[in-house]
Parts: sequence; C-alpha cells; structure tokens
Amino acid sequence: MHAFDAVVIGAGAAGLFCAGVAGQRGVKVLLLDHGAKVAEKIRISGGGRCNFTNRDLDPRAPQRHFLGANPHFCRSALSRFTPADFIALVQRHGIPFHEKHKGQLFGDRSSEDFIRMLLAECEAGGVQHWQPCGVSGVRQAGHPGAPLYEIETERGVVRAPRLVIATGGLSVPKIGATDFGYRIAGQFGLRVVPPRPALVPLTFDGGDWAPYAQLAGLSLPVRMGTGDRKAAIAFDEDLLFTHRGLSGPAVLQISSYWQPGSPVRIDLAPGAELAAALRQAKALSRKRLGNELAAFVPARLADAWVQRDAAWQRPIAEVPDKALAALAHALSGWELVPSGTEGWRKAEVTAGGIDTRELSSQTMEAARQPGLHFIGEVVDVTGWLGGYNFQWAWSSGWACAQALAA
Ligand code: FDA
Repeated sequence: MHAFDAVVIGAGAAGLFCAGVAGQRGVKVLLLDHGAKVAEKIRISGGGRCNFTNRDLDPRAPQRHFLGANPHFCRSALSRFTPADFIALVQRHGIPFHEKHKGQLFGDRSSEDFIRMLLAECEAGGVQHWQPCGVSGVRQAGHPGAPLYEIETERGVVRAPRLVIATGGLSVPKIGATDFGYRIAGQFGLRVVPPRPALVPLTFDGGDWAPYAQLAGLSLPVRMGTGDRKAAIAFDEDLLFTHRGLSGPAVLQISSYWQPGSPVRIDLAPGAELAAALRQAKALSRKRLGNELAAFVPARLADAWVQRDAAWQRPIAEVPDKALAALAHALSGWELVPSGTEGWRKAEVTAGGIDTRELSSQTMEAARQPGLHFIGEVVDVTGWLGGYNFQWAWSSGWACAQALAA
C-alpha cells in the first residue's frame, strides 16, 4: 500500500499545476494519468502554441467570459490566482510569448514550453508522477472527520486523505478524455450538470445546407449572436464555412450559448449600412447586384447569396427597392437553425460538469464529501475561446493546492 497526502488524478493542465504548487508547499503528492503522454490538450492547444491565458479576464466580473449554472462561482479562484500570476510564472521560466488578439496570450515557440514548465514545477515540488497508470476504483476508507481514500490503480492501491479529480471533460476522446470525473461524482452522490460539447462547430441538415456547401473554406468577419434578439451575447469574430456547416471563432463562441432547436443570428456585413449603400449604388451603377454586393462581402458569398432569389440576379438598377431592402435585411440578420454540433470529436471544451453548488469556491472541495476536490474542466465552469479555459485550470488548481497544503 502506497501512502500520500494527496492524489491528483489527471495530468492535464489543472492536475499538473495543482500537483506542482501543492508539492512545493510541502504536500506529498502523487499525480497519475491513464494516458501515456502528459498534457495532450496543452500540446494541441492554440494551434500548437498554447493560448495560455487572457489579459482581458476580469476576475471581478467572471460572467463576462465564463458560463455555467453559477458563473460567479469562479470569481474567488480567478481573483486569488490571476492571469498576471500565471504570466509571472511563464516569465520566470523564460518562455517567450506574445499577445495575438483580444488579450489572448500565446507562446512564441511551442506548447511544449508550457508542458516542460509544468513538469519542472512538479519536480521542484517532489511530485511522484505515474503515467500511464489507470484507475479502476476509488473507495472511501475513513470517516467524515478524518477522510481517507483508497485508490485502486494499475500500480497498486494508494491511500490518501485528499483526492483531487482533474480528469477534464469529454471533448476529444481520442486523446484520453473520459467520464471518470462524473462517475466519481455520481459514486459520492454529487450532482452533475449534464455535459454538452462547447466551443464546437455547428452543423446543418444536408438539404438546407446544400446552397452553402460550395462556400466551404470561405472565412469572413461577422457579428454572431443567438437567435434571441434580447440576449446581450454576440461575438464580432471570423466565421468559416465548412462542408457540413459553420465554424471559426464566432461560431465556436456562440456554440457554447446555443440551445438545440433554437436559431443563430449572423450579420454577414457588420458595420455596413447595407440597405442605404445598395440604394445609392442602384442610382449610379450598371453592374449586377451580385457584383455590387461584393464590395461588402467576399465575392463567393455575394454570388451564392443572390442565387437565393430570382429578383436579385439582375443588374442592380433593375432590382426593385423592396427586393434590395429584403436582401440587406437577410444578409445582416441571417437566421438559421443548426441541426446539431460536430460533437465531442471536435469540441474544444465541455460545458456542464460537477455542479458548483456541490463545491467550495475557495477550495474546490465537495461540501458533502470532505477530502474530495474537483478542478479544471470537469467542473461546471466553461470559459470563452481565448485562453479563459486554461486560466480556469490554473486558478482552480492553485486554489485547491492551497487547501491541500493548509
Ligand atoms: P485536461 O483535459 O487538460 O486533462 C485531463 C487529464 O485527465 C488528461 O491528461 C487525461 O488523460 C486524464 N484522464 C481522463 N480520464 C482519466 C482516467 N479515467 N484516469 C486517469 N486519467 C484520466 N484552452 C485554452 O484556454 N486555450 C487554448 O488555446 C485551448 N486550445 C484548445 C485546443 C483544442 C483542440 C482543445 C481540445 C482544447 C483547447 N483548450 C484551450 C481547452 C483546454 O485544453 C482545456 O480546457 C484544459 O486542458 C482543461 O484542463 P484540465 O486539466 O481540466 O483537463
């Protein structure tokens, strides 16, 4: 029987960071993961450069960049370990980085820099690291006053008074995602908000999509929101047409808010006074409407768009004002109902997860299950695209590590 102060299951972003911080505070930590490779998601993140945090994150207003049944839950951890704190660590390790867009910070070289940094932090904390090492079961061996967990692993049974679940969500199963965290929650009677794919491309029924499938590969800046006109949420980002539907940052962002069966709303020419501009062009131009439209949206899109109505397939001077207004309206308020998403295979994250009502926002410990902590993506905290999810992994891991060391 092996004995530790704390066992962390899952050597991804949250687990590695938590283990290293706790180890350096004197906690005897075992970190284990069923995968052969450490931190696969960090490796593939940010196109291989890891968008490791976001300077725009405001810990006082987490609901601006995080979703979940209680978006305020993450405030405590995010304000105690901030993007600035993680940036300071990255700088101590001499990792060069740059800001790309809207506060997003990326490594200059490769995600491997960040993995090496986290492993070095674990080593500095004397963390024992078993990998690959599967876990077949967890038992409670103590009592509420003196919690103790027995973890059955491929390398034998391990005992510890503190167990940290950092096994992430369900996205990208081929690199090791499992429902382990939700099963452990279920075993101990903790509620789970049903997980669903988020930051994921949206798909459309083949027939409905046929007119747009020819646009696959086309990217353009748009303003995209949910169909609910009263909802404040909308993103000014790029949209990408694919063979099966829509992708790109605008779509990934809105997918986290999208409810099945409801429409999404897209302004394909944001910032343009399209109706007025087309009326003006009508007075002066001999070109076809599609050619005039190409001044506002990419020509491929303009071509495909005018195919939707015979009235639009003429020289602009011959198009009735009403038809011009209808075109402007349709293009700036394109409403369409996705049939689904590309699912777990393509989702960058999992929305839903361990119900935050079960956890202390200070320590990430389950209120009804002393000694059991959940950190990172397995918790019902989901960040926007742009480094927010890693920051949640660092902040929740740090908060938990303080509790392990207390
Ligand atoms: P994470 O998934 O990192 O780690 C979980 C670990 O648990 C894995 O190592 C897994 O093998 C292990 N595990 C699972 N089940 C187990 C079991 N039964 N037994 C033992 N071990 C088990 N975010 C961001 O902020 N910036 C970015 O640039 C990106 N880019 C990005 C790209 C792509 C393609 C994806 C899929 C995701 C991103 N993300 C991102 C999201 C980000 O990767 C994610 O939110 C964090 O990795 C979550 O960290 P966790 O430690 O919670 O889980």
